[in-house]
Amino acid sequence: MREILVYPHPLLRRRAEEVREIDGGVARLAGEMAEVMYKAPGIGLAAPQVGELRRLIVADIGHPEGRPELIVLVNPVVVESEGALRMEEGCLSLPGVRAEVERSARVLVKGYDLKERPMEIEAEGLLAVVLQHEIDHLEGRLFIDHLSRLKRDMIERRLRKRLREGD
Ligand code: NI
Repeated sequence: MREILVYPHPLLRRRAEEVREIDGGVARLAGEMAEVMYKAPGIGLAAPQVGELRRLIVADIGHPEGRPELIVLVNPVVVESEGALRMEEGCLSLPGVRAEVERSARVLVKGYDLKERPMEIEAEGLLAVVLQHEIDHLEGRLFIDHLSRLKRDMIERRLRKRLREGD
């Protein structure tokens, strides 16, 4: 099983490349990402988090409540957004860190599924947050980047300290 890269791994800060052909390798990677996400457990994962700088995300907000519905999006883009919403977020690449982040309340996301069919997802609430969070990963952006400088510095100090202590 693939490992989840943990902050401050440098690949988490890189921009991911557009997927040019949705072939068997992309489908296999999506499957491996879903496996890692369910095992964690988490509700979303972006390819850079497993060390692949490709524009691919998986999400499943139904999973924790036992209604799994896997979303796989290739080359996802937020094409419309409106409103604002504050929600507490975490990230599998920032274990133990949670903080409230402000994002758009509703988004329209476009991308492709694994059969190269165009996909459109209109999302609000938790799904809107997860999609924005995962698409951020494709730009090398983490949820802590949305926090105030002060708050981010505190979190980074705590993470580095924990890393030094090998915990
Ligand atoms: Ni994340």
